[in-house]
Amino acid sequence: MSGRLSPIDTAKFVAAKRACEFVEDGMRVGLGTGSTAAWLVRCLGEMVKQDGLRITGVPTSSRTAELARQVGIKVVSLDEARWLDVTIDGADEFDDELNLIKGGGGALLQEKIVATASDRMVVIADTSKRVQTLGAFPLPLEVVPFGWQTTKALVEETLAALDVLGDTATRRMNGDAAFVTDEGNFILDLHLNRIGNARQLALVINQIPGVVENGLFIDICDVVVIGHGDGRVEVKDVNTGQTQEERIDFIDTENLFRDMGD
Ligand code: 5RP
Repeated sequence: MSGRLSPIDTAKFVAAKRACEFVEDGMRVGLGTGSTAAWLVRCLGEMVKQDGLRITGVPTSSRTAELARQVGIKVVSLDEARWLDVTIDGADEFDDELNLIKGGGGALLQEKIVATASDRMVVIADTSKRVQTLGAFPLPLEVVPFGWQTTKALVEETLAALDVLGDTATRRMNGDAAFVTDEGNFILDLHLNRIGNARQLALVINQIPGVVENGLFIDICDVVVIGHGDGRVEVKDVNTGQTQEERIDFIDTENLFRDMGD
């Protein structure tokens, strides 16, 4: 078992490692963004190098594209791949129906486009991401820079009429400058505390001019692989309603654990 990995990294790693079982030779695979997805990319890179796995990866951010190339995964654009067999990505929150909040890393737009263009979306997460009701994690909203303060005001006004417990929005920062997405947009983080009707919110908020996309993933995720700090994983399939529990054994002196970092 793990000697050097912290429980949280162990949880992320075992979720990623188990999710690799959804990837078969010849598949076109959407590669998520974030620290958990980075483990997945490293694991797939090992399978490419060690086992001769042949896959084509479609990254969901410039960061993931760089990592995928570094570990030897063939990278193409979504338009080159057209349709994907599976997308594997992290999440900021997931509920019992496997609806998600995503976008903590600011990549929600590409993530949603890529996941939607896939036969199956598999989410990998540690147990801290499991919630009864979505909304404690601020909901990311991608907006165009033009008129963003006006858009923010309209968003807040709209939220006040919806089933949420907070209606403030803050523009995400990167140090002293605004955070800018791969598409050149801004992110507003919506402090909602509790989202009573995620489906309604997702539809209504996207109607506001200036809003590009929101971080609610409704009816997109098929499977969640939940990693635990002791090496256990739960695999929950929303279509069958079944949850399986397994244990992933590994030795953390493999190449995979060298030069870690996101
Ligand atoms: C990036 C995302 C990530 O998947 C999400 O933020 C989870 O990240 P991490 O695995 O680092 O906790 O949506 O936009």
